[in-house]
Amino acid sequence: MTRLLVTGASGLLGLNLALEAAQHGYQVAGVTHLNPLRDVPFAVYPADLAQPGAIEALFNDVRPEAVIHCAAVANLEAAEANPELAWSVNAELPGQLAQIAHRYGIQLIHISTDAVFDGVAGPYSETDLPNPQSVYGRSKLAGEQAVANACPDAMIARVNFYGWSPSGKRSLAEFFFNNLSTGQKVMGFTDVTFCPLLVNELASFLLLGLKQKLAGVYHVVSRECLSKYAFGVALARQFGLDEALIRPVSVLESSLVARRSPDLRLKTDKLAQALHLAPPAQASGLQRFYELYQSGYPQKIRSYHG
Ligand SMILES: NC(=O)c1ccc[n+]([C@@H]2O[C@H](COP(=O)([O-])OP(=O)(O)OC[C@H]3O[C@@H](n4cnc5c(N)ncnc54)[C@H](OP(=O)(O)O)[C@@H]3O)[C@@H](O)[C@H]2O)c1
Repeated sequence: MTRLLVTGASGLLGLNLALEAAQHGYQVAGVTHLNPLRDVPFAVYPADLAQPGAIEALFNDVRPEAVIHCAAVANLEAAEANPELAWSVNAELPGQLAQIAHRYGIQLIHISTDAVFDGVAGPYSETDLPNPQSVYGRSKLAGEQAVANACPDAMIARVNFYGWSPSGKRSLAEFFFNNLSTGQKVMGFTDVTFCPLLVNELASFLLLGLKQKLAGVYHVVSRECLSKYAFGVALARQFGLDEALIRPVSVLESSLVARRSPDLRLKTDKLAQALHLAPPAQASGLQRFYELYQSGYPQKIRSYHG
């Protein structure tokens, strides 16, 4: 049974991934920080990983054979408002963690983001030059570089995803669902394109990457890309909600502060070739997102929120 350390286990990706890994027979240790977890089917280790010595202490306690590092200041607006914290957690911490993983020969998957690109000339492959536009994107790119330098065998997964989260409001899909299901009008950006993957599908791909010992940068997103507006409309149709409540607008009309890259289409050929498996398109992900809803999964995920 592989001992797998999942950081950010109280977050959208970390919790769904930790649950999936536990189901696949991994012995999971999940790290939380400000948001506790309760009654989860894996061991929980609360820690502020940005504190000096915290990673060493955690590795001594858990003795992991593999690590999937999901912890981050992952909200673009929060990163923009607190650049020092974003730099410490998103840029410095991954480098420290990667050094220790390399020293002890521990397999590492580091989670990065599509937001390392400026979105001017997508679709992007793994060899295209990043040019981040926000504090978040810059700090995540620095984190990637620190990981690659300290631990060349690490897999760096650039992701974008949605799903059911412990807070009930972390993902864009929950934003559309929560508002549309209560009759609220929302904005949908027509000029921001992305390739979101259902978080449960992303978790499966990350575990495959772990099993295949992938190393280097990989784009782990849906093979189908669409605007945020089109994603909202597709979600509304899947749930039988009123798509007319979504107003198609430019991101420039919003009050968001952090600069968004417009065209974040990422190529996934490298991943598909390495795993002999193409990542899913949008319809199947949204259908599974709906089936999870019907099966009571959102309530289950929220019940873990301590
Ligand atoms: N959501 C997306 O669509 C998206 C897109 C691209 C990339 N990503 C990347 O995917 C990863 C996961 O994102 P997410 O959306 O799941 O994030 P999230 O829901 O905001 O969760 C972030 C996690 O990081 C933990 N954390 C933050 N600071 C910490 C610290 N100092 N010490 C220990 N843990 C700390 C949080 O713990 P507490 O909550 O307990 O404080 C939480 O578990 C991140 O690397 C993010 O950059 C996300």
